Amino acid sequence: MQNVFQARNKAKPIVFHLRDVVRDRASEGITFRLRVPSLQIAQGEKIALIGESGCGKSTLLDMLAFISQPSEIAAFRFRPDLEDEAIDVANLWRKRKQNQLGELRKHNIGYVMQTGGLLSYLTVRENMGLSRSVLGMPQEDTVENLARELGIARHLDKLPDKLSVGERQRVAIGRALAHEPPIVIADEPTASVDPFAAEKIMSLFISLAEERNITVVVASHAWRHIQRLGLRRLSHHTQRSKDGSTTETIVNG
Ligand SMILES: Nc1ncnc2c1ncn2[C@@H]1O[C@H](COP(=O)(O)OP(=O)(O)O)[C@@H](O)[C@H]1O
Ligand SMILES: [Mg+2]
Repeated sequence: MQNVFQARNKAKPIVFHLRDVVRDRASEGITFRLRVPSLQIAQGEKIALIGESGCGKSTLLDMLAFISQPSEIAAFRFRPDLEDEAIDVANLWRKRKQNQLGELRKHNIGYVMQTGGLLSYLTVRENMGLSRSVLGMPQEDTVENLARELGIARHLDKLPDKLSVGERQRVAIGRALAHEPPIVIADEPTASVDPFAAEKIMSLFISLAEERNITVVVASHAWRHIQRLGLRRLSHHTQRSKDGSTTETIVNG
């Protein structure tokens, strides 16, 4: 009995726990359904959802970041701080506590968008420091240090449009890490750069996350270089109804 208890204690705590979570989206007469029968992501894990365009990657990531509301939820628990109990996200959605969900996201999740999502009128330094200032955290030299690690220190006082696409993606990664969130979600962060640059940026991103013991969820359409970085791949398959009116992707992991 004691052994079982000890083994359980040793297991990594679960940050995301989803059971039977569904999100429906409809456009132009076609219904898309993402179904997650079971998904558990442990603290510090690096997870990848790999699939072709339209298979539901962004839909899943947006649910994990509390940006989009699931259509059905049996269970959705989130435990960003291991000192605290898990938060019942299903209940927050049910009670329409969007503000609370927004706060949870702001404090705990860094998000890297496919196109960077940088503000064009702010310098690289200001873009990277944004998440910290929003949270009222002192800047100290976090941004400078991150910029150095990302190889973009010489660009700190430039506007984003003076940078290459790959450099902008590095800035976006820096911005997602700057407020030291326990979780970072990245939606095809290297989709718009060439494969060689993509591999370099992705490996830099994963090593920065590793050093900080951050839990990472990344979507990508390319498995090769992600596999080399040792990420755990979520299984998924997509099926279409006979009349073509519904597409369903089922994700487990
Ligand atoms: N805002 C939206 N409204 C309606 N349907 C959408 C919307 N965004 C995406 N979809 C549909 O949902 C499906 C999954 O999209 P998405 O999650 O963006 O896939 P991926 O990120 O893998 O390319 C697609 O069939 C897409 O057409
Ligand atoms: Mg997408």
